[in-house]
Amino acid sequence: MTTQQFVFIGAGHMASSLIGGMVRQGISASTIGACDHNPGKLESLQNQYQIATYADSISAMDAAEVVILAVKPQVMQDLCQTLKKQGNVEGKLFISIAAGIRCEQLQNWLGHVPIIRCMPNLPAKVGEGVTGVYAPEDITASQKQSAERALSSVGQVVWLDNEAAINHIIAIAGSAPAYFFLFMDAMQQYAQELGFSEEQAREMVTHTALGSVKLALNDAQTTLATMCQNVAVKGGTTAEAVQVFEQAGLRETVKQAMQAAIERGQQLERQL
Ligand SMILES: NC(=O)c1ccc[n+]([C@@H]2O[C@H](COP(=O)([O-])OP(=O)(O)OC[C@H]3O[C@@H](n4cnc5c(N)ncnc54)[C@H](OP(=O)(O)O)[C@@H]3O)[C@@H](O)[C@H]2O)c1
Repeated sequence: MTTQQFVFIGAGHMASSLIGGMVRQGISASTIGACDHNPGKLESLQNQYQIATYADSISAMDAAEVVILAVKPQVMQDLCQTLKKQGNVEGKLFISIAAGIRCEQLQNWLGHVPIIRCMPNLPAKVGEGVTGVYAPEDITASQKQSAERALSSVGQVVWLDNEAAINHIIAIAGSAPAYFFLFMDAMQQYAQELGFSEEQAREMVTHTALGSVKLALNDAQTTLATMCQNVAVKGGTTAEAVQVFEQAGLRETVKQAMQAAIERGQQLERQL
């Protein structure tokens, strides 16, 4: 039997994004495996990346050194208890990407195995992810390196020194692609009302977003507030638009939305 270093349990959206990133960054496909109860998802991953696939979690766990738990939070308890019952969790490092489930809870279900908790985001799919990672004190340096190796292949890794900060990462990065999509959608909608086709409106909005992000990344010395002021020169058109956002309380709305995401993460932790 070939030892698979990284095995994903759950081969949905986030697992396939991470697997794609890992393969693109040069982690050998022969050291990656995935297990899911949907044969179609496994077949598609196998065709795309030539990774090993497992229809059952017993053979997946036998092959794994690092197990990446990538199922929805609602089914995590069931999965962990099944894995524990199978009796082959010992000696493996677990990495959970699930929102709302603390390491302590995962250990209640899995037994006392090493667990790293992380929160990736969807841009991992294009290698531009931001992943917050928390490792409890018993995690060794080499276990941290294994996690870093997998997660840094799909973007930036931010190590957190306390588990509560995972919920902050959810608000700042995990949920944030949706905020940007919402803002762009609102702009696209009005561009269409102004008479542009859906295609033209989407193209203009997304490319303006891309260009703005590139400018911000290329000029880390200038604050984002200054970059905004530099476009919004006094008496000009942009200044009028920015004033409308400020007067409508955009900053406070953003803060409240991020707080709502944090509170939901905390609430899930209490429920699950
Ligand atoms: N999507 C995001 O932006 C995002 C961001 C950060 C973190 N996350 C976390 O990532 C995790 C996965 O999210 P996702 O969006 O990738 O979900 P998803 O697309 O639904 O993928 C989960 C997969 O796991 C399968 N599965 C469920 N129970 C299983 C079991 N016992 N054995 C094997 N496979 C099983 C599911 O099959 P069925 O559908 O048939 O049940 C599904 O194919 C979640 O915990 C979420 O909190 C997601």
